[in-house]
Amino acid sequence: MTQIADDKNRVVIFDTTLRDGEQSPGATMTLGEKLQIATLLDEMGVDIIEAGFPIASEGDFEAVSEIAKLAKDAVICGLARANFKDIDRCWEAVKHAKKPRIHTFIGTSPLHRAIPNLDMDQMAERIHETVTHARNLCDNVQWSPMDATRTEHDYLCRVVEIAIKAGATTINIPDTVGYTAPRESADLIRMLVERVPGADKITFATHCHNDLGMATANALAAVEAGARQIECTINGLGERAGNTALEEVVMAMRVRNDIMPYNTRIDTTKIMQASRLVSTVSGFPVQFNKAIVGKNAFAHESGIHQDGMLKNVETFEIMRPEDVGLTETNLVMGKHSGRAALRSKLENLGYQLGDNQLNDVFVRFKELADRKKEVYDDDLIALMQDTGTHSAHDRIQVKSLQVVSGTQSPQTADLVLSIDGEDHSAHATGDGPVDAAFNAVKALVEHEARLQLYQVHAVTEGTDAQATVTVRMEEAGKIVTGQSSDTDTIVASVRAYVNALNKLMVRRLKTAPQAAAV
Ligand code: KIV
Ligand code: ZN
Repeated sequence: MTQIADDKNRVVIFDTTLRDGEQSPGATMTLGEKLQIATLLDEMGVDIIEAGFPIASEGDFEAVSEIAKLAKDAVICGLARANFKDIDRCWEAVKHAKKPRIHTFIGTSPLHRAIPNLDMDQMAERIHETVTHARNLCDNVQWSPMDATRTEHDYLCRVVEIAIKAGATTINIPDTVGYTAPRESADLIRMLVERVPGADKITFATHCHNDLGMATANALAAVEAGARQIECTINGLGERAGNTALEEVVMAMRVRNDIMPYNTRIDTTKIMQASRLVSTVSGFPVQFNKAIVGKNAFAHESGIHQDGMLKNVETFEIMRPEDVGLTETNLVMGKHSGRAALRSKLENLGYQLGDNQLNDVFVRFKELADRKKEVYDDDLIALMQDTGTHSAHDRIQVKSLQVVSGTQSPQTADLVLSIDGEDHSAHATGDGPVDAAFNAVKALVEHEARLQLYQVHAVTEGTDAQATVTVRMEEAGKIVTGQSSDTDTIVASVRAYVNALNKLMVRRLKTAPQAAAV
């Protein structure tokens, strides 16, 4: 049997940002973005990466296969429903990994049993067949009774026992709709550990959703009762109110190790970097007061707090900012800062750059420093995120933009885009400069995509601050998010729009190559 945790207090971290996280409407990620996230998760010591749902689409299959090929340490897991076709497709994708895992599931609560119209016995038989099939392909099999927290206890014990007998090595207990509460979460795991024959031979996992804001508490309660795998996502990304946040459970077990004496393999100094990357790629900003990774998580505003902090940081700080990868922000960069200073600053912020990449970033940094006297950490983070989201290989590139805005309408925009290497220009008017600029994009790139979200936020204070613009678009059920930062809000808006269109084209290509014309 493939057991990861030998130490009885070791908690295995199973990250599902790329599967359950990506299921958040609008959080769709490209292959390149998924590979970037998976590489970082692997580096930071995540034990198991759920890389996707291979049967869901060609894109998901490709992402899981590619992540399986590149993973160094982490187990790579794919999701499959309880049928042979899903499981075979999942195996085809994860089999490239050094350590593959198949995760198969079926809804076991009365509400979920009614959907495939299976009675209790028929479902039990299905579970036996599908877990056996998965185990014949892969020696590391996880099984989940979806909506476990609303499943009758006797039936839950019965099906968990069947899955264990059929060869599942991890049994995951999902709180699919975020319905449970800490005491009940613990009681459920304790009940399964006590009642199910063979429970001592497998690992129990906890998978909580945050609909009532209790996902972190429920996951930790399950661990106290015997679960040794936590399923979670970076920033708590996930359907509806999201999943248990990785950074919260990991830091809770670290900071309160006196009462929760469990350990993980996570390098917590990479938490901020992972949070920023997932936020950029998904287009879901992190709320300012979010535990651990929010902008204000370590900010002390009130006089009493600041005074206490100056005398002894422990008066108001239960963990150090550097524990999660936040470093001192005193050194402000400017146009006279050199390459070495930039490299060191970026390293402090968690970015390791090769020489070529540093050269590219240095050019962009100088351009920014020419326009902005003081370049703060947040400016550099925005610049790095921008460099990650825009590539020289993008089919559409913004070459130049001039807008006329002011009290006289209509506002106008003159835009030049390079499309597949050829320059095209357009003049457009609109209700405001952003509208005019977006109309110019539409004139050059014909599409049916509907703008779902247009969001601007200032990276730092001051009128010369950069603006980060996020654009979410939907076309025939496909949702993509584009992002860009610039000191000019209209330029950032157009680049974010173009970023979303580039992603849309990649997605069109995956579903129907003939429909991918610009
Ligand atoms: O929330 C859930 O039940 C899931 C399962 C597929 C494990 O995500
Ligand atoms: Zn889930």
